[in-house]
Amino acid sequence: MPCLIGTDVSLAAQLLREGKLVAFGTETVYGLGANATDATAVAKVFAAKGRPSFDPLIVHVASRDAVRDVVATFPPAAERLAEAFWPGPLTLVLPKRDTIPDLVTSGRPTVGVRVPAPETTRRLLAEAGIPIAAPSANVFGRISPTTALHVAEQLGDSIEYILDCGPCGVGIESTVLDLTEETPMLLRPGGTTLEEIERVIGPVTLASKSEDGPQRAPGMLSRHYAPRTPLSIGEAPREASGRLGLLSFRIPHDVTPFASVEILSPKGDLVEAATNFFAALRRLDSAGLDRIIATPFPEHGLGRALNDRLRRAAATSESAVC
Ligand code: TXA
Ligand code: MG
Repeated sequence: MPCLIGTDVSLAAQLLREGKLVAFGTETVYGLGANATDATAVAKVFAAKGRPSFDPLIVHVASRDAVRDVVATFPPAAERLAEAFWPGPLTLVLPKRDTIPDLVTSGRPTVGVRVPAPETTRRLLAEAGIPIAAPSANVFGRISPTTALHVAEQLGDSIEYILDCGPCGVGIESTVLDLTEETPMLLRPGGTTLEEIERVIGPVTLASKSEDGPQRAPGMLSRHYAPRTPLSIGEAPREASGRLGLLSFRIPHDVTPFASVEILSPKGDLVEAATNFFAALRRLDSAGLDRIIATPFPEHGLGRALNDRLRRAAATSESAVC
């Protein structure tokens, strides 16, 4: 049965309390939510997405106070980061409380938690009165949704209700930061930049460069966020064979080889590019192209997260973990 899209926060909260699946908007991407304290409800999330159960879910709460129901400790570094960036696109990995079932954390003793920014989303969480586990509301490995309609297209048949919170402002997922060891580790670059985090808590290790990075970042499959159309990263070719699409950070020099072009930010602004990224990728993916060429972003600020998404969208192996 196709699900409903609407703006009824109370209905969405009630459905969540009843153990049903409800998608909702956040500042980053739309999430596919379930009661994080109910393993049966959480199991439906994995089934709907086709997501492997070794990949833990992020738990969303309404406020900094509500985090205490989810985590066992909240160290000083977490306090400083919460003060600086919550509500906002930063997920902190901390030791979990027993109220959070193992299915949410894939059997790990830690849980990823964040306070999302939009007022409507926090009202939903407050009215539900329970922590909500929510991965991005896309089929596993595919392009993340930044509007309610994107969610309906991919997952409409398996969700009870989609709470339309408008298009997502930030446009890429939250940054995931592990605070369970001596040195904080960046598990996934995202909407809060590494530079911003280091300004608050000092040096952060990158999971990609650390020996124990792969164990601490379980969900970082090399192929992810992927369109069906093959995608490669590079500069625009002078001549095209087949129907080519271009995903360009700035205004390109020459668009003649391309059947379809998406410019993420005419003025070269990374914030604007992030907002447009997944929707533009989705449009190119449905334009009947043979290949998409994506130009790389500068490797700083949000460009780091955008390049990460591009590399995963371009990877050809589903199995490698990096
Ligand atoms: O912006 C976001 O974070 C969105 C919105 C809906 O909040 N959610 C999202 O969830 O992107 P998901 O499931 O697509 O990605 C969650 C990431 C995965 O890479 C997962 O492995 C990591 O967070 N993660 C969650 N809990 C973890 C834990 N306990 N330890 C290590 N990594 C964890
Ligand atoms: Mg995801």
